[in-house]
Amino acid sequence: MNLEEIKNRAKEEIEKIVDLKQADDFFKKYLGKKGEIAKVFDSLKDLAIEEKKSIGQQANTLKKEIEEFFNTKNEEIKNAKNQTNPNHTAEKIDITRPGQKIQRGHLHPLTLVMNEACSIFQTMGFEIAQGPELETEWYNFDALNVPKDHPARDMQDTFWLRQNVSEIKNQKSKIKDNEDGFYKSNRLLMRTQTSPVQIRYMESHQPPLRIIAPGRVFRNEATDAKHGAQFYQLEGLMVDKEVAASNFKAIIEDFLKRFFKTNVEMRLRPGFFPFTEPSFEIDVKRPDGKWMEIMGAGMVHPNVFRSAGLNASVKPGLGWQGFAFGVGIDRLAIVKYKITDIRLLYQNDLRFLNQF
Ligand code: DAH
Repeated sequence: MNLEEIKNRAKEEIEKIVDLKQADDFFKKYLGKKGEIAKVFDSLKDLAIEEKKSIGQQANTLKKEIEEFFNTKNEEIKNAKNQTNPNHTAEKIDITRPGQKIQRGHLHPLTLVMNEACSIFQTMGFEIAQGPELETEWYNFDALNVPKDHPARDMQDTFWLRQNVSEIKNQKSKIKDNEDGFYKSNRLLMRTQTSPVQIRYMESHQPPLRIIAPGRVFRNEATDAKHGAQFYQLEGLMVDKEVAASNFKAIIEDFLKRFFKTNVEMRLRPGFFPFTEPSFEIDVKRPDGKWMEIMGAGMVHPNVFRSAGLNASVKPGLGWQGFAFGVGIDRLAIVKYKITDIRLLYQNDLRFLNQF
């Protein structure tokens, strides 16, 4: 039994060890239950008393030395590992690791569409105008040439505000329209369309003008996949001495091309709106091949100009002419993002919203 030889071998081997697995094997080989040291102790029983004593002592020393080899190596490997993998220690920072992303919110698809639509029209020289969501009957209907008892008023079911009659009467007399000698109805409602902004803007600005009016509108009606009781519109109005339907068509074609980023197919159908003559409805082809109505439009009716105190003309150069349109922002969104149901836009389900 050559203890010196065991020690030299162990020393040689330990120096070549580079990982914890090898260190573990080393431990088993020398210090394990059936390892070299155990064998030495085993063999003591065959020796004479004297020898047993001295060799036993030497074996104990050897065991300690080999344990020392093992412990030192083990520490060394662990420290080396910590330096390359900072997860193993709180103190070491690896500045080359990618940072941790902070969870942030993002814009709602309707906001994205609204922003995009506004900026496209702004590049074409349209300015943004705004009006109140709580509107008067005058701006929402009368001024827009929607006759009092005309079924057109029923086209858009209205949320009226509860007001007492005397209140309405008082307000009415205050805003008596002197020129025509009739009263502008001050009955309050939630605007059913963004079109009243046309009147408000023209009252305070002289043409030529180009505006868009983005905003929320309200309808007292049942909801389904294509209709909501509350939705968003973007109104457009261009007024100048000579404005034709062809100008409208060119602008809308350009808008749709830029908004959908492809040559989306569109079609112009004759329609009816009291505030335009002639009136159109514009459809675009959805990815599934079906036509979807996205806006109403037309040439501004002379009565609308009159409501705002402007001179109208059907002949170029003699008064103001213009086109107007009202595009459904929700409709644009469902076509652009291939959404099947408009109501998804209002349910705030994160599984839906996180896709944008
Ligand atoms: N206000 C109409 C609606 O809500 C849409 C509309 C149609 C707006 C024709 C217009 C227009 O400006 O000229 O259904």
